[in-house]
Amino acid sequence: MLKIDLTGRRALVAGVADDAGYGFAIAKALAEAGATVSVGTWPPALNIFRNLLERGKMNESLRMADGGTLAFEKIYPLDAAYDKLDDAPADIRENKRYKELGDFSIEGLARRIAEDFGSGSLDIVVHSLANGPEVKKPLLETSRAGYLAAVGISAYSLTSMVRALAPLTRPGGSFCSLTYMASERVIPGYGGGMSSAKAALESDTRVLAFEAGRKHGVRVNTISAGPLASRAASAIGIIEKMVEYCRANSALPEAVTAEDVGHTAAFLASPLAAGITGATVYVDKGYHSMGMAVPS
Ligand SMILES: NC(=O)c1ccc[n+]([C@@H]2O[C@H](COP(=O)([O-])OP(=O)(O)OC[C@H]3O[C@@H](n4cnc5c(N)ncnc54)[C@H](O)[C@@H]3O)[C@@H](O)[C@H]2O)c1
Repeated sequence: MLKIDLTGRRALVAGVADDAGYGFAIAKALAEAGATVSVGTWPPALNIFRNLLERGKMNESLRMADGGTLAFEKIYPLDAAYDKLDDAPADIRENKRYKELGDFSIEGLARRIAEDFGSGSLDIVVHSLANGPEVKKPLLETSRAGYLAAVGISAYSLTSMVRALAPLTRPGGSFCSLTYMASERVIPGYGGGMSSAKAALESDTRVLAFEAGRKHGVRVNTISAGPLASRAASAIGIIEKMVEYCRANSALPEAVTAEDVGHTAAFLASPLAAGITGATVYVDKGYHSMGMAVPS
């Protein structure tokens, strides 16, 4: 039988702090396929996430198909706004949520993984994080600082992660990120430079697939996912409307689920997808191919 088998593979999913988003569903799908999964969690959300886990609030979501429980191999602090610890300003490094965490930068994450497991220990890296401090502002009203923060955290971080983590991968290594159709079509309300960040992320996926493919033999893809009422998406303020609009107007009139995206990510990470790199893969029930709203 042809199946997604990630037994013996080690994965890192960056951007997990609860069980409501795409990162969690991807982590679970990778584990269901047999991979060992660590996560990278944004320091301001780290304590809440650890509490949710320790108090059993996520037990139901952590239950696996075989009756076992998903257990993360490691939970690493990660602020993807910083490539090196020195890049973080003093007020961040001294902030109570960051102070005791050691090196929470992208290079720090790579160093910790190398210390914990050795170099040549990683197979799958998922970038499932985004942040646009001015996401509620139209692009026309977005400040330069807000725009650059959105692009830095949500797009450049992928380049930085490929640079830092690709050298740690074993043959067959795979990177995947999450993008959104606002990169190529206007989604009113998805502001603050987040649409620009997603356009950059998709372009970078192609260039990184070439550069890191030649240098390290890894594959780099991105999943263009339909709307989901995750914690991050709820910050946009109109996510319920976006979900309902897409459900009503997609080729398949259903809302996309986090599991749909998790399963695609597991496939892309697997040897079954050995020929796929530099691709933007739509997981949106076919919404991207529609050209007109469906009369209700
Ligand atoms: N939810 C949607 O409708 C939708 C649609 C398409 C694509 N996506 C993308 O999916 C990815 C995951 O988002 P989600 O919607 O599942 O929400 P989510 O809240 O589950 O994930 C976003 C994560 O990013 C983390 N984060 C924010 N700033 C960070 C930083 N500086 N460093 C490290 N981590 C940071 C947050 O703590 C959170 O865990 C994002 O790239 C998002 O743009 C989401």
